Amino acid sequence: MYYPDELIEEVRIKNDIVDVISGYVKLQKKGASYFGLCPFHNEKSPSFSVSGSKQMYYCFGCGAGGNVFTFLMNYENYSFGEAIKTLAERAGVNLPEVERSEEMRKKENHRARLLEVNKEAAKYFYYQLRARQGEIGYRYLSGRKLTEETMKKFGLGFANKTSDDLTMYLKKKGYDGKLVQEAGLASFDERYGMHDKFWNRVMFPIQDINHRVIGFGGRVMGEGEPKYLNSPETPVFDKSRNLYGLNFARTARAGNIILCEGYMDVISLHQAGFTQAAASLGTAFTTGQASLLGRYTENVLLAYDSDGAGVNAALRAIAILREAGLSGKVINMHPYKDPDEFIKNLGTEAFQERIDNAENSFLFEIRILERDVDEKDPESKTRFHKEIAKKLCGFEIEVERENYLEAVADKYHIGFENLRKLVASYAARNGLTGQIRRPKSGVAKKNTSEENSKKVQRMLLTWITDYPAVYPKIAKYIAPSDFTEELYQKVAERLFADMETGNYNPAGIVSMFEDEEEQRQTAALFNTKVEALETKQEKERAFHDILYAVKKNSYEYYSEKLGSDMDALKQVIAGKKALEELSKTHISLD
Ligand code: GTP
Ligand code: MN
Repeated sequence: MYYPDELIEEVRIKNDIVDVISGYVKLQKKGASYFGLCPFHNEKSPSFSVSGSKQMYYCFGCGAGGNVFTFLMNYENYSFGEAIKTLAERAGVNLPEVERSEEMRKKENHRARLLEVNKEAAKYFYYQLRARQGEIGYRYLSGRKLTEETMKKFGLGFANKTSDDLTMYLKKKGYDGKLVQEAGLASFDERYGMHDKFWNRVMFPIQDINHRVIGFGGRVMGEGEPKYLNSPETPVFDKSRNLYGLNFARTARAGNIILCEGYMDVISLHQAGFTQAAASLGTAFTTGQASLLGRYTENVLLAYDSDGAGVNAALRAIAILREAGLSGKVINMHPYKDPDEFIKNLGTEAFQERIDNAENSFLFEIRILERDVDEKDPESKTRFHKEIAKKLCGFEIEVERENYLEAVADKYHIGFENLRKLVASYAARNGLTGQIRRPKSGVAKKNTSEENSKKVQRMLLTWITDYPAVYPKIAKYIAPSDFTEELYQKVAERLFADMETGNYNPAGIVSMFEDEEEQRQTAALFNTKVEALETKQEKERAFHDILYAVKKNSYEYYSEKLGSDMDALKQVIAGKKALEELSKTHISLD
């Protein structure tokens, strides 16, 4: 964090959210709130609400939400620091110069210069593509069915045939030759002196999530080696922590992000309306990229090439996604090689269908394993079954493991009990995760309860902020640890602590997080729609049910962790007692 919390709060309080948002969105007063058309998704009737009392906005259509900082970050694509600066200026609050060492200042300066020279180069390439000498590039891109609008959106450009025109241009603009080299735009050798790195190629500027140009990919027009030439890594271009197209994909709000292999795939998908597509940067998908994706979505759809190399890359990506706690699915590209070719041949609707039918990544892995199995060879089959058992042991949560066990047994005609035994024996031998127990009902519980449990947790936080008087009455039953989602727990900790001092405000809690996505989720916690309930009795009953459900979920959550964790045991005992008491207690909302 750049600034002290009190200063951030001062800036927030001095910028009334209704005033600020009115500058961007036409708002109308309706009841206690203001409503307008949501600027973050397409809609015809207003579901975007701004609350003056809560100092928050929330869209019931797309789930965008947050405080005044979040709004600017979302709307203007600002970082948290930039949003604070802008609003401080607007309200006339003086921000202290952040103290930085001489060395840090130098480093930042250097980075800023690199970004500048990249931007200048991108502008130059862009201009060349539209000039006479760039016609060949423009024809190439049009030939690949890109529209002018698409070329513009991605800032596509052209590097001329001449070997040093960019370098000359940049030098004339006052950039030092050394800087141009450091940016990876030129190299130097004894014989030819300074010369451009890219020439006679169509150029794809690579942007970070804030739309800043950090590097380039250049493609030969037609055949030639290398097909793509990419900028080298520089202080501003970290290939393992950026994704092509993510600057757009992160605000697409499609509920998923499509991960591709190539720049052209991303561009084609965006042109077809799938603006949630992104790609790695000519290198294999990394953990850094997975955690970056995790800021925007839990669902990643892989749209990798359908050939052998693509399948192997997909298998590696799946493992990385799983490690990062993201759910991966695989889009079937057959009979085409990649998304670009698929879209060109079968179009948008067919691709949407493939998205809807994307294959669960675990089942994809098993299917790939199965391709090498010789059905007639018992040894090969046994190996396959053992491999499945081993993979199933990777699921730590019992219900999840049971669900997959059932699905795989079913699909590959393996006896359910036999496979279960195999899993148990593998687990026993390798001292693996939780016990393999028989599900109580014989049928494994489905995973729908997770969304439900999150929802009641959100509802409870909304109720408590809407009816703060209720807090002292429930404080003995509920603690932050009852919120089993990490983010919810952090919010509850702060909210409850603030309520203890009688000085709470939800909009301030939103600024606990610098990340826009976390701010959005936090805002959602305070704006969960609760059914319109008429009478006080109905409300009190609903509240009681929600409270009970949250407590019960927490009880079950810690029960499942029992055996490995002593703290969980304490939670469980206390939870059981609270549940019993709670079932007999009436809590009034006044
Ligand atoms: P098109 O052939 O133009 O449709 O491109 P593509 O996106 O289908 O390319 P491909 O599937 O062959 O490669 C996927 C990605 O790998 C590209 O977008 C590049 O980032 C990278 N790549 C491809 N070829 C090369 C190469 O020769 N060198 C390097 N460094 N990267 C490459
Ligand atoms: Mn391609």
